[in-house]
Amino acid sequence: MGHRLLWTPGLSIVTDKARVGILISGRGSNMQSLVAAAREKDYPAKIVTVISNRPDAPGLAWAAAKKIPTVALDHKAFRSRDAFESELQKALDAAHVEIIALAGFMRLMTAGFVARWQDRMINIHPSLLPSFKGLHTHESALAAGVRIAGCTVHFVRHEMDAGPIIAQAAVPVLSTDTPVSLANRVLEAEHALYPEALRLVAAGRARVEHDKVVISEDVNQSVPLFSPAFNK
Ligand code: GRF
Repeated sequence: MGHRLLWTPGLSIVTDKARVGILISGRGSNMQSLVAAAREKDYPAKIVTVISNRPDAPGLAWAAAKKIPTVALDHKAFRSRDAFESELQKALDAAHVEIIALAGFMRLMTAGFVARWQDRMINIHPSLLPSFKGLHTHESALAAGVRIAGCTVHFVRHEMDAGPIIAQAAVPVLSTDTPVSLANRVLEAEHALYPEALRLVAAGRARVEHDKVVISEDVNQSVPLFSPAFNK
């Protein structure tokens, strides 16, 4: 894995992009942001397939309309989680997927599947993990009265919404926020964060060491975040 640069005899550079499969269950707005980023010439990843466990997911129709190879695997049609995952693995193999990006994929994976994709499967969650795991994150954040909320991209582990953290984006929580207004603000940050996190992983600039992510030193990590922004 990683962003491999190959020199050809004519001295032009051929980039061998990491092959990414996106798994969705619904609207797929994060998938769209990854697809948009991957259209850039220098982006180190290519979206080779979009797979949904819900055949009627709006995101699947969107991807198909963009001519991205799509696979619908209705989990209800399988007698067990293992049977579903075995078909899923076949679809991933057929597309030669190297990295899985979960984007609103609402099925829990078995320990075996997670282990098979260890450090090659990433997820986005709409909270600053480890706070507010699971569903209803924005309600929980408002109930807790935090002044900063946000989103997290992490490598997937068997425990839900856990795993080495690759990147996080923070947004302010306003006194007037409702779960919907906060969700919208966080979602906008998600769309900016996920492509950057995938860029780091695909380029080999975010690596897991001792179950924590080490970010390559050429990434600027020195800008502090404040909420409220006291300089205004
Ligand atoms: C996002 O908020 C993501 O963080 C969470 O599920 C939601 C999916 O939204 N895991 P979309 O399908 O990407 O629009």
